[in-house]
Parts: sequence; structure tokens; C-alpha cells
Amino acid sequence: MEQLLAAARAAQEKSYSPYSRYPVGAAVRATSGKIYTGCNIENASYGLTICAERVALATAVAAGEREFTALAIAAGDGDPGMPCGACRQFMAEWFTPDVPIVVVSGQGQRLQMTMGQLLPYAFGPKSLGEGPR
Ligand code: THU
Repeated sequence: MEQLLAAARAAQEKSYSPYSRYPVGAAVRATSGKIYTGCNIENASYGLTICAERVALATAVAAGEREFTALAIAAGDGDPGMPCGACRQFMAEWFTPDVPIVVVSGQGQRLQMTMGQLLPYAFGPKSLGEGPR
């Protein structure tokens, strides 16, 4: 998990967040062992902003990954910045409920939880009658 947190911190450095000045970095580990990272990318048309978590996951999925074992997020100054609701839904598509998620702030405060704790009773592939991936 330390390696994943370091990757999330490095990704946070790449954040393009001139409007909010709230940089976020995310790093996801796939079952292949590879790590994929993302940062938030804001837009002058504010609503088009993409969160770091979704950039990291989209990058991994586009590289052919389908299964993941952990996610680290670097966000916030004091309290760690928690993933937004849209990202939780996006993550629930790919993470089983037991996947650990660690959030770390700039001051090093950490929170660790699972996907199931982050989004209980999630709407997901199974809600549509899809079998396991
Ligand atoms: N942000 C993320 O990157 N991930 C989240 O889960 C919460 C919010 C970004 C979006 C925006 O660029 C900035 O943080 C402030 O909302």
C-alpha cells in the first residue's frame, strides 16, 4: 500500500486544478500487479472537470485491466479528501466490496475503508442481471 500511496502523491503533483486549487491524485493496482494513476483535470467549463479516481480507473481499463486489488487517493490538507459520489459509483463498477481504499492528506492523515463501506447497497452490474465479470 505504501507504493500505491506514493504513486497517488506523485499523480497529485500532475493535477490540473487552477480553478479549485484542490489537487487530487489517485493510483489503482490491478491484479496484473501494475499501477495506474490519474489526477483531477479541471476545465474552464467547470462541469466538465474529471476527478482523479475516474482518470486512474479509465486509464487502467483502457490498458486492458478488468480486476483491481486496491486504490490510493491523495487529497486534502487536514482531513483526507474523500471520493465524490460520482467516483464511488464509477469505482463500484470495477471493485468488489472488499477492495481496500486508502485516502491520505497532505499532512499525512490517513483513512482506510473498503469499497463496500464507501458505497453500501451499490447499484452495479448485478443489478442489471449481469454475471460475474
Ligand atoms: N475531485 C476529485 O478529483 N476527486 C473526488 O473524488 C472529489 C473531487 C476534484 C474535482 C475538482 O477538480 C476538485 O477536486 C474540487 O472539487
